[in-house]
Amino acid sequence: MLTSLSVGRQQVRLRCDLQQRSRGKLPAFRQQLDSRKHSNAPIKGMLGASKLINVGPGASLVRIATVLESVFINSYLPPMLPTACFQPHHCKRLKMRYKVLLSVERLNMKIVITGNMGYVGSSVVAHLRRVFPAATIVGVDSGLFGHYLTQRAIPERNLDTQIYRDIRDPLEDVFSGADVVVHLAAVSNDPMGLRFEGVTKEVNESTSIQLAELAACSKVRHFIFASSCSIYGLADGTARSEDDTLNPLTAYARSKVGAEVGLQKIAVNTGMTICALRFATACGFSGRTRLDLVLNDFVASALSTGRISVLSDGTPWRPLIHLKDMARAIEWAIVRPAPNDECFLAVNVGSDEWNYQVADLAEAVRSFVAGTTIEINKNAQPDKRSYRVDFSRYKSIAPNHQPQVSLEGAIRDVRDGLLSMGFKDSDYRHSNLMRLNVLDEHLAAGRIQPNLRWLAHESCSRESPSRVDRPPTVSSNEVVHTV
Ligand SMILES: NC(=O)c1ccc[n+]([C@@H]2O[C@H](COP(=O)([O-])OP(=O)(O)OC[C@H]3O[C@@H](n4cnc5c(N)ncnc54)[C@H](O)[C@@H]3O)[C@@H](O)[C@H]2O)c1
Repeated sequence: MLTSLSVGRQQVRLRCDLQQRSRGKLPAFRQQLDSRKHSNAPIKGMLGASKLINVGPGASLVRIATVLESVFINSYLPPMLPTACFQPHHCKRLKMRYKVLLSVERLNMKIVITGNMGYVGSSVVAHLRRVFPAATIVGVDSGLFGHYLTQRAIPERNLDTQIYRDIRDPLEDVFSGADVVVHLAAVSNDPMGLRFEGVTKEVNESTSIQLAELAACSKVRHFIFASSCSIYGLADGTARSEDDTLNPLTAYARSKVGAEVGLQKIAVNTGMTICALRFATACGFSGRTRLDLVLNDFVASALSTGRISVLSDGTPWRPLIHLKDMARAIEWAIVRPAPNDECFLAVNVGSDEWNYQVADLAEAVRSFVAGTTIEINKNAQPDKRSYRVDFSRYKSIAPNHQPQVSLEGAIRDVRDGLLSMGFKDSDYRHSNLMRLNVLDEHLAAGRIQPNLRWLAHESCSRESPSRVDRPPTVSSNEVVHTV
């Protein structure tokens, strides 16, 4: 059993009286701590030279290691001490002694993530599990693209619970006790928005607003909404900042604007902190990769046909962001200290350097996939969806969460991911790696209704209509975080 733990600016020492079951884990733990000890990275938040933290009985090594790891990963935070391991009187003493916020709720918080079984969600969940190892993470998704895995490992293994449910159905039970809601579920691009205009408004706008209302009633602290830079529409003059006029050109973009307007009112009326992250266009490889995104499409095309055909004249501007950096932005939104007077924040998420013209992206991909040629449609009508975005607000308020992945890194990521799944399909634009094709396939097979709700199988719907619409909660505790 761990009886005491010594934490210093450059070192962490522990004293323990090992129980049989913990003994085997000590060397790995020491190694972990030693690697930190010799790194130059300061362990911020640790005050003073050397501390001794007395740990109450029952704290196992793995628990302490988990907590310490999260202290180090989140080193920009006030120190998060393993309060779960302390007796109440220890906590009080420590609070006074170190004058720090003992934010145990950050460790044990419940995060609900909607749309977790999508392209972005699959990657976000893995990141959140890594940075909040002790959090309870619950996913809610109707599973429209659930079967279209592009990696062997199932992304839901990182969750505590997966709930298969349409977000238009009641979610009171899911939101109960939640600290954070990360709302990703949406009809997620322009072509789908064009085809399913009414549903796009219903799911992306009305339901997002209802979910935020529910979250406020459920005493959720942070509601994080996945918005999009596409709300700037045609903006290829100066880069658009958050205070500029919006110019949504599509049903998808309009639904995001409508949601933001509704969310702002809720934040003001209820005091719940709402953060609308206006993401640049995503790229990268995830557990459910989609190829209907510009950079992913170019890499897929280069690999499978040796050719990149740019549908436009190549001049449109498109800001990009890698999935990993989206996940880090969501992490930031979860931990950011929100000023009291700022309940609602809309921020462009990406980086100024990642404002690219489409032809430049094609060129960058060509240099990574040998023998690729580029065809640009010089006769194409000017693409109205062209926008440069100013990311300076994000840079100033989230200095520790700035995008890190390079364009080369992103291209390599998609290339290696596609190669790892043996990708060769030159007709991939008609495949299930394009979101709209999957919906079409579901519709044609009679699996979903035009409102994008699952159709109950006839026998199921007679016996129990709720069985298909709302299947029972499935727990996926493959990864055990408690000890
Ligand atoms: N991918 C991008 O480039 C990008 C850029 C900016 C913003 N965003 C936003 O990020 C979010 C995630 O995007 P993505 O690329 O992962 O999309 P995606 O289509 O891959 O995933 C969306 C997920 O939402 C789920 N969903 C849709 N309607 C639902 C409903 N009614 N009930 C329950 N679940 C439902 C789907 O099953 C799917 O798993 C979206 O809100 C999107 O608008 C994405």
